[in-house]
Amino acid sequence: MTEIKSSNYSIFVSKNISKEIKKFLKANKRGYSKLFVLVDENSMKYCYPQLVSEIEQFRDAEIIEIESGEENKTIEICAQLWATLSDYGGDRNSLLINLGGGVISDLGGFAAATFKRGIDFITIPTTLLAQVDASAGGKTGINADNLKNEIGVFANPKAVFVCPDFLSTLDARQLLSGIAEIIKHGLVADAKYWKKIAECKFADLELLENCIIASIKIKNEIVQKDPMEKGLRKILNFGHTIGHALETFFMEEKSQKQLLHGEAVAIGIICESYLSTKVCKLKERELKEITRFILSNFASVKIEKKYYTRIIELMCHDKKNTKREINFSLLSDIGKCEINKAATSDLIKESLNYYSKQVSVFRK
Ligand SMILES: NC(=O)c1ccc[n+]([C@@H]2O[C@H](COP(=O)([O-])OP(=O)(O)OC[C@H]3O[C@@H](n4cnc5c(N)ncnc54)[C@H](O)[C@@H]3O)[C@@H](O)[C@H]2O)c1
Ligand SMILES: [Zn+2]
Repeated sequence: MTEIKSSNYSIFVSKNISKEIKKFLKANKRGYSKLFVLVDENSMKYCYPQLVSEIEQFRDAEIIEIESGEENKTIEICAQLWATLSDYGGDRNSLLINLGGGVISDLGGFAAATFKRGIDFITIPTTLLAQVDASAGGKTGINADNLKNEIGVFANPKAVFVCPDFLSTLDARQLLSGIAEIIKHGLVADAKYWKKIAECKFADLELLENCIIASIKIKNEIVQKDPMEKGLRKILNFGHTIGHALETFFMEEKSQKQLLHGEAVAIGIICESYLSTKVCKLKERELKEITRFILSNFASVKIEKKYYTRIIELMCHDKKNTKREINFSLLSDIGKCEINKAATSDLIKESLNYYSKQVSVFRK
């Protein structure tokens, strides 16, 4: 078992996660009045049975199941969740257990942080992306007005319980989505870690477990230094300015295949690495190394030029203001990231062109 201490809670990584959860429930002397477990159909099917067979308290818990998918990270589903908590006798002394991927931890964390001015919650992340990124750091929230994570609060769980074995039922696309965040952690904070990632065969769950721990530690260290994202924490947005815009674009453009969060971020990392060579002195050689690694692991995506304006609009939030420069977190070197670096929309278009060109070169 590995315990990573954060500001006022711990993240436990263990193959025997039930043991850690039991210890946590026992340590809560006051006792919770009621336990609620938030799941989607997949975490219900693949993860809940093991926990309920090993943890006695789970047998009396109320299960709240929502449909899986980013499109459910909404105020409507959140309102249903609040109503269910209320209908089933939830009070200030209840515990919400978020069992699932990043959608469950973002939505459940937000619902718990706002229900009766805040009840305790713990997170049991069951996707790689949620284990290495979404479950730690205190950001919770929902999408609104077609914008990702538009409404939310900073709220820490009482504990996070990470069990790498849960990943065995995850499909390859979802696993890769989490690897995008692992790549990001290496690129923004630790050149040695990036080298290890670049040599890693991710199908090996043992090796992956080391990456999970290393990534959580990197994120945790950054978040502890700047919990409210006033400065340093912005480096974790590397790849995400363009990544989020692409994710939203493919979500609203129903004719296109949807991109998973990590898939969009992987493209964002290539484009923002390109910007880094223009704005921040990242070397061409390093840009090539990053591009090659991502393209050899992730499926390529066609981004037609006619959509560039809309994609850039989505980066601005203010839809009338596409002419102004947009701020990025960019690499000055592998393992070093600088915040508040401006790029013009022309340069952003160039970076999208760079991605498309590299895709065609790579696939030849
Ligand atoms: N709060 C943060 O700091 C933060 C950071 C990164 C991402 N996020 C958010 O996280 C979300 C993406 O997270 P995600 O990729 O986990 O998405 P997700 O929650 O939609 O999970 C992906 C899919 O995997 C399924 N699944 C979950 N566990 C499984 C298991 N063990 N076996 C089989 N299938 C399983 C889910 O049902 C879903 O279909 C986005 O909404 C993103 O904005 C938040
Ligand atoms: Zn992300």
